Amino acid sequence: MAAKFSVPRGTFDVLPADSAARARIYLAAARAFESAGYKRIETPVFEDTEVFERGVGSSTDIVQKEMFTFEDQGGRSLTLRPEATASICRAYVEHGMHKLPQPVKLWCWGPFFRHERPQAGRHRQFHQIDLEAIGTDSPLADAEAIILLHDLLHELAVPGVELRLGSLGSIAERVAYREELVAYLRSREAELSDEVRARIDQNPLRAFDSDHEGTREVMRGAPTILDRLSDSDAEHFEAVKRLLDEAGVAYVLDPTLVRGLDYYTRTVFEFTSNALGAQSALGGGGRYDGLVAELGGPEVPAIGWAAGIERILLALDAPVEEAPLDAFIVAPESQRERALVVATEARRAGACVDLDLAGRSEKGQMKQADRSGADRAVILSDDGTARLRDMRTGADRPLDLDDIVGEIERERDEAGL
Ligand code: HAM
Repeated sequence: MAAKFSVPRGTFDVLPADSAARARIYLAAARAFESAGYKRIETPVFEDTEVFERGVGSSTDIVQKEMFTFEDQGGRSLTLRPEATASICRAYVEHGMHKLPQPVKLWCWGPFFRHERPQAGRHRQFHQIDLEAIGTDSPLADAEAIILLHDLLHELAVPGVELRLGSLGSIAERVAYREELVAYLRSREAELSDEVRARIDQNPLRAFDSDHEGTREVMRGAPTILDRLSDSDAEHFEAVKRLLDEAGVAYVLDPTLVRGLDYYTRTVFEFTSNALGAQSALGGGGRYDGLVAELGGPEVPAIGWAAGIERILLALDAPVEEAPLDAFIVAPESQRERALVVATEARRAGACVDLDLAGRSEKGQMKQADRSGADRAVILSDDGTARLRDMRTGADRPLDLDDIVGEIERERDEAGL
């Protein structure tokens, strides 16, 4: 029968077979970040549109073209969150977190929404892990955040990872640099692509990102911000690099690193994988020292990043096996209800146990036990006794039902597991 409905373009179902690989990333992230003092925060999936217009920046592609914006029944403009940083800063301001000891270190995981053209690794609903340290301008925080993402990707064994690192300087230098860049682009206007030319004043930095051959040639001679950093920004950047060197985190300097969000100042970075196609960014971020104030809070510096779960999964390209069941319970008609009692007691004692809920014959249940990948079957008999069957060897032996968990643990010890 053909399905009558399907999910919207660019979105997807996460089926049970895919969830173990996701859970592995989530658990590794949670363990790493919590043990580094980052606390989990959850913000709403939709917010006032203005949070993102002001937060992400009105000249960005995200705000201009990619937001899912709608009016609610009260005529308010709401937007499905395209990213987490603006929301987290909104929460920081709303809950007076500047009064807590600084920095406030937060992380989150969840779905995000951008109306982009779907392709491998690019979706309209995707998932990010996001990490932010708000309330310090110390280069230690930049390095800590970058090291945590580096180590997470390493622990997950993501292949072909490269870190690109740059600095955008502070807002004042950026303004001066921007003017210099605009003047340079104007002087070579005829050689640029139509798209870059149309946005010279709006977003000249995007010219570094262009695939257009003429534009690329022009950009090879363009001034870069790294040559224009103030002494204090240059010192800050040197410290970040030194700290990464000391932590054994390799990077490639990229003076033209452009991020698709407006709020960055000073450090910016992106992790890519050569196992990915055109959408090669696994994750990225940087410092955003003006964003909290932009959203109505005090002048508070901050640093953070987000990584795309689907991109990490794509780069890994390896299914993750679920942990096998300890046992599948097989019961004759007379013992069906008892089977649930046995399963419940074993589960409460910590074992992973499943049973038939669909009235299959004993033969059908054995087949199901086999399919479930369980290491053992607990086979109940009409007379109330039970046997434990090793599903790999087929060997049976009597089982004391009050001691299923003890029995499983003894077997594991014997096998050295
Ligand atoms: P971003 O670079 O826009 O940064 O996104 C981070 C990561 O999310 C990307 O590197 C990519 O892996 C993933 N991603 C983005 N869009 C899509 C998509 N359409 N489909 C699949 N994956 C996608 C931010 O979002 C910033 N908020 C990062 C940040 C946090 N900066 C400071 N703090």
